[in-house]
Amino acid sequence: MLRIGLLGAGRIGRVHAQAIISHPQSQLCALSDANSEAAESLAAEHDATVRSSEEIIADPSIDAVLIATPTDTHSDLIEAATRAGKAVLCEKPVDLDLERAIACKSIADATGQPVMVGFNRRFDPSFSALKSAADRDEIGAAEMLSITSFDPAPPPVSYVQVSGGLFRDMMIHDFDMANFLMGQLPQHISAVGTSIIDPEIGRAGDVDTAVVTMSYADGKIAVIKNSRRSVYGYDQRIELLGSGGLLQAHNILENSVVKSTVDGVVGAKPTYFFLERYMPAYRAEWDAFVTAALSGSAMPVTLDDGVAALAMAEAATRSAQSGRPVAMSEVLKPVAK
Ligand SMILES: NC(=O)c1ccc[n+]([C@@H]2O[C@H](COP(=O)([O-])OP(=O)(O)OC[C@H]3O[C@@H](n4cnc5c(N)ncnc54)[C@H](O)[C@@H]3O)[C@@H](O)[C@H]2O)c1
Repeated sequence: MLRIGLLGAGRIGRVHAQAIISHPQSQLCALSDANSEAAESLAAEHDATVRSSEEIIADPSIDAVLIATPTDTHSDLIEAATRAGKAVLCEKPVDLDLERAIACKSIADATGQPVMVGFNRRFDPSFSALKSAADRDEIGAAEMLSITSFDPAPPPVSYVQVSGGLFRDMMIHDFDMANFLMGQLPQHISAVGTSIIDPEIGRAGDVDTAVVTMSYADGKIAVIKNSRRSVYGYDQRIELLGSGGLLQAHNILENSVVKSTVDGVVGAKPTYFFLERYMPAYRAEWDAFVTAALSGSAMPVTLDDGVAALAMAEAATRSAQSGRPVAMSEVLKPVAK
């Protein structure tokens, strides 16, 4: 049994609390939140104790912490928790600053404690089935990857201002998915972005619509399309073209009813947003973490993966700002150890 401390009782912290209490081998012992009301209400739901993040990290009876606090706290909390001998599952991204994320990784690595980064989409049943089919060579050698990831509606500008930008906050999931499916980092990244949905997002220095193309040393290509608005729901699709065929993962719909009449054929919309679409993925992610922590096997998503996706976000941000392709070596060179 893994005794867990949950740091952060906000949107995603509440999802993780559910996964922790539903798992037969994990126990939610304590939780913290900077907002005491948020902490008290979640603790009351799950019969957990409210404590400060520092107290939880210092408690030797807690085996692992799940970090679901805002991004600008992640590096500090990963360092403190691993130094205190805890296994860690930390939400994405590791940090907004690449150098800070790399420094955090070396400190955590030195402690020898296992750290997993919360790229939950790897555990989505459809995406993981697509990956398994590709690994079994069912479509031959992969040649071109296409990832579509549209949110239903843009976040408030107050969120955009502290998010680190679309590439670090939103597309980071898709960068990790590209690494997961292609099994390598790209050589070059080209990005274009626009604030066509909400000019206020542009005035805040961010984009709400972006396309990234990535080229690989072995000639493969990947494209990622992000939008902060799709009026029909959360659009999450993947297409992998190989020498011997095509793998596609379609959207999950609200229901499976299709109405066919003389007017046409109409079906349900995709599920609304990440809380609806990815609930099975969050549970499977937690199960993978618990299994690795209890068995001592390698974490399935590591700080290396977190740093790699952040480096790609950095390259895409630079490319969108400068209008030129950015080599990954350019982004990683100044911080490489
Ligand atoms: N993997 C995913 O699908 C996914 C989805 C949403 C958010 N996230 C990530 O999760 C993190 C949290 O996002 P959210 O949407 O839940 O935010 P949120 O604002 O809803 O929740 C964060 C909570 O952390 C609390 N907090 C702040 N500092 C703290 C500290 N030092 N110790 C304890 N609690 C503290 C806040 O009071 C707040 O309640 C972000 O890094 C975000 O990128 C990941």
